[in-house]
Amino acid sequence: MLSLPMTRGIRGAITVDENTEAAITGAAWRLTQAMMSANQVEVGEIACIIFSVTPDLDAAFPATGVRLAGLTTTPLFSTREIPVPGSLPRCIRALMLVSTNLKQDEIRHIYLGEAAKLRPDLDGGQADEADRPGDGMPSYRKTILDIAPYQPGKPISELRREKGLTDIIKLASNENPLGPSPKAVAAVQQSLTSLHIYPDGNCFELRESLAKRLGVEDMELIFGNGSDEVIKMLGLTFLEPGDEVLVCEPTFSEYAYAANLMGAKLRTLPLKDHAFDLEGMLAAINPKTKMVFICNPNNPTGAYVKQGAVDDFLTKIPEHVLVVFDEAYYEYVTAADYPDTISYVKEGRNVVVLRTFSKIYGLAGLRIGYGVAPGHIAQLVHRVREPFNVNAAAQVAALAALEDEEHVARSRELNEAGKAWLYQELAKLELDYVPSQTNFIFIDLKQDSQIVYQRLLDRGVIARSGGVFGCPTWLRVTIGTEEENQRFIEALAEVVGR
Ligand SMILES: Cc1ncc(COP(=O)(O)O)c(C=O)c1O
Repeated sequence: MLSLPMTRGIRGAITVDENTEAAITGAAWRLTQAMMSANQVEVGEIACIIFSVTPDLDAAFPATGVRLAGLTTTPLFSTREIPVPGSLPRCIRALMLVSTNLKQDEIRHIYLGEAAKLRPDLDGGQADEADRPGDGMPSYRKTILDIAPYQPGKPISELRREKGLTDIIKLASNENPLGPSPKAVAAVQQSLTSLHIYPDGNCFELRESLAKRLGVEDMELIFGNGSDEVIKMLGLTFLEPGDEVLVCEPTFSEYAYAANLMGAKLRTLPLKDHAFDLEGMLAAINPKTKMVFICNPNNPTGAYVKQGAVDDFLTKIPEHVLVVFDEAYYEYVTAADYPDTISYVKEGRNVVVLRTFSKIYGLAGLRIGYGVAPGHIAQLVHRVREPFNVNAAAQVAALAALEDEEHVARSRELNEAGKAWLYQELAKLELDYVPSQTNFIFIDLKQDSQIVYQRLLDRGVIARSGGVFGCPTWLRVTIGTEEENQRFIEALAEVVGR
């Protein structure tokens, strides 16, 4: 007989080590994934999820993490429990209502971490069941459940499909509004007839040219399929379970990805004046700290740490720590006291500097970025690199773009002029923003930015809502062409009603 799906409840709980937003949102996502996978539930079959947290957790609600991790339309509800003497500390509980053909006694409830103690009847909380080979499914590495899927800026084509709009501008991913260097385009066009040949795995010509420019040794450069891949390669080279990775937040999400991928623990501190808090980081370093990332200028805030602060930090940093400066927006920086971090690489310090061709060079679609590291670090990272990780078109385009100084200068000028104009218009709208050393501006709307973001979408303007960064009243906008900036401001003025 055909059985119709019924609404059933899946129970779950997980504990966290610390009361931080990252720990709570990451654990909530891990628990949700484990509950879904153990019961073979698809997102569309979830009616709703109700979370509760013990009163000692107040850094964030679990629903925030689940929402940011991709359950964008599932109804979610979070609440805090009343204090119960002797109850398990730092615990997140969940009730997931699903539409399923499973009978209630076939449902697998999931209790992870210390929460397994709550259900001794479930044979170790049944927590491990989800991780063991099960019904038609190979076992998998538990640590990947801590990885929140990357939330990219909305592509123009998606908005076109969703809203039937044709006139759309995207100011969501900090791309170069002038496009790629025409010289890079010509170089790629010329290379197209050689697509049947593998790329040069060593990026020889690009390596030589860039090494000369930076005054470093050829093999001190590590090229990647975007600087994203260099971040991942640093994780693969250095991180093991038990290691700690230290960052400030909000920041670029790939540092968390590298830590979680390798089963290392991500520790987070708040930013200070919207930039990385180097003093705070120094104080937080312990013998387990393997890597610290410093996003400078920081994405999404655009603020930067200065030469003096970095000098001081590097005199005090213990030798067991690798310091990674992510300078994706380096070419846009105009501040005179911005640190010269490559000089530390030249001194042979345990420092890696990351840069990219995705931003001012306008090659985000080709995927190429690089790290600069002293030989003793670089030679280890080269071991984990895939043989042909940087494609042939990206190599020739990057070489041409590097040499196209006119395009870089025009891009910088456009950015500076656009930034000054946007500052002035934001002031007229009485909106606060963080002064930026990048090609984007972080704006404090002092209201739910998700609503503003949606209303901007209705007007064909794609920006970035601060919710993905844990800043629900902020909006990040990329500085565009003059026309794009005007259109953004007009739409924003309409939406915020000024
Ligand atoms: C701070 C930061 N680092 C790295 C990247 C990734 O750059 P790539 O395109 O080279 O992977 C970005 C992209 O937005 C970024 O903002």
